[in-house]
Amino acid sequence: MTTKLIFDCTNLLSDTMGEERGITEADLAKYSEASEEILREAEAGWLPFRELPYREDYAESVQELIAGIPSSFRTLVNLGIGGSSLGGNALVSAAAETGPKNQRNVLFPENIDPVFFYRVLNRLDLEHSLFSVVSKSGSTAETAAQFLVVRDELIRRFGIEGYRERVVVTTDPEKGDLAALAGRDGLRKLPFPEGVGGRFSVLSPVGLLPAAFAGIPIDQVLAGARAMDVRCRAGSIPENPAMMIAVLFHLSAERGRRTVIFWPYSELLVPAADWFRQIWAESLGKKLSSSGSTVHAGQTPVRAVGVTDQHSQLQLYIEGPFDKIVCFLAVNDYGTIVEIPDSGVALSSFKYLQGKSLNDLIRAEEEATEMSLARAGRPNCKLVFPQINAFHMGEYFYLLEVATAFSGSLSRVDPFDQPGVEEGKRFTYGLLGRDGYEDRLQEILAWRKKQRKTL
Ligand code: PA5
Repeated sequence: MTTKLIFDCTNLLSDTMGEERGITEADLAKYSEASEEILREAEAGWLPFRELPYREDYAESVQELIAGIPSSFRTLVNLGIGGSSLGGNALVSAAAETGPKNQRNVLFPENIDPVFFYRVLNRLDLEHSLFSVVSKSGSTAETAAQFLVVRDELIRRFGIEGYRERVVVTTDPEKGDLAALAGRDGLRKLPFPEGVGGRFSVLSPVGLLPAAFAGIPIDQVLAGARAMDVRCRAGSIPENPAMMIAVLFHLSAERGRRTVIFWPYSELLVPAADWFRQIWAESLGKKLSSSGSTVHAGQTPVRAVGVTDQHSQLQLYIEGPFDKIVCFLAVNDYGTIVEIPDSGVALSSFKYLQGKSLNDLIRAEEEATEMSLARAGRPNCKLVFPQINAFHMGEYFYLLEVATAFSGSLSRVDPFDQPGVEEGKRFTYGLLGRDGYEDRLQEILAWRKKQRKTL
């Protein structure tokens, strides 16, 4: 059995799908020059996140911090949003020990829905909870607001020393208001790596801290990422999984397949698909190209869940418009086996299942879905996890980070900015009276005067 994460693109290619639906060798060859150029640039160091798997100092400072947390602390609450939350959530969901060996729990509330956040706090054993405040900019409204609520409560309940004991901050080491407040309050800090954006930061303290708290061997996560780094440096497209994903998805988008469905056949990998959804959308959905021309680039990532969405979305994917590709996340060895007992029920809807396992059923359904999509002319591919563990999650994150960066180069957009997101933030600041955003408030007030059509 293989010991590495595999990208299987058989059902995207013309050999299987035919020339009308599949990608031919000639299609791929058109991108060989561009790929070589991208790989050369990557070697010259334009990917700032690329050094993270090699930063032993980050892993050490995380381990040191975790070693100082009393064992009675059972819950870590990650206060952060977007790239400051999704990667850690994906890693913990996939790789944390869930049996009796792990007595620790990590929460990623992200949302500021008042009812939801109130309930999260209300259910906590605050005395034995650690709060990890994560923000690269140190100014994200949602994280700042959650932190202020928690800070006040902790100081009220446990005094300033008790508050310090229960909070860790990960932010830019030099600048930003969060760094300033953490310094003033005397909080422990971990560095948010310089030059690395939130959605590329999971292999830094941002993702490693919650993972280490949950008992995940973070050295294995980094080892997986390093193993994948070697594969992502291969010079020819067919040998380089990140370049294959970038080129095949790019070619698919050019052919009108503007949606990519990420479809884990594992509940543990659902947050990993959510993480992909963000990195692909926020990095590649751009109005302007790097040279300033209007391109409106991007492919819409959608997350489905296997097997559940076979009974919800699959009908559309098989018979609806030819505007999608599917990428399954398949698992060879789920670890736990749940046998379906042979109870001697002779009715045909039950008989064939007896003596099999839920593992047999989920694997059969994944293969059957692949097959039925392919037969209907719907291109699909899969990332195959030998097992879901720390090492393969390291491979997964790194592979898709590099594929995203390569894809940005193919589309000629900057994968590391997010100008579209910033505008909404400015209007929020205006509405809440933040200094310097008075013009946005005026704009909203004028907008509100427009005649509304309501039913
Ligand atoms: O990936 C990104 O860059 C974003 O999703 C950010 O992570 C998100 O907006 C939170 O930003 P910050 O870490 O500055 O609080």
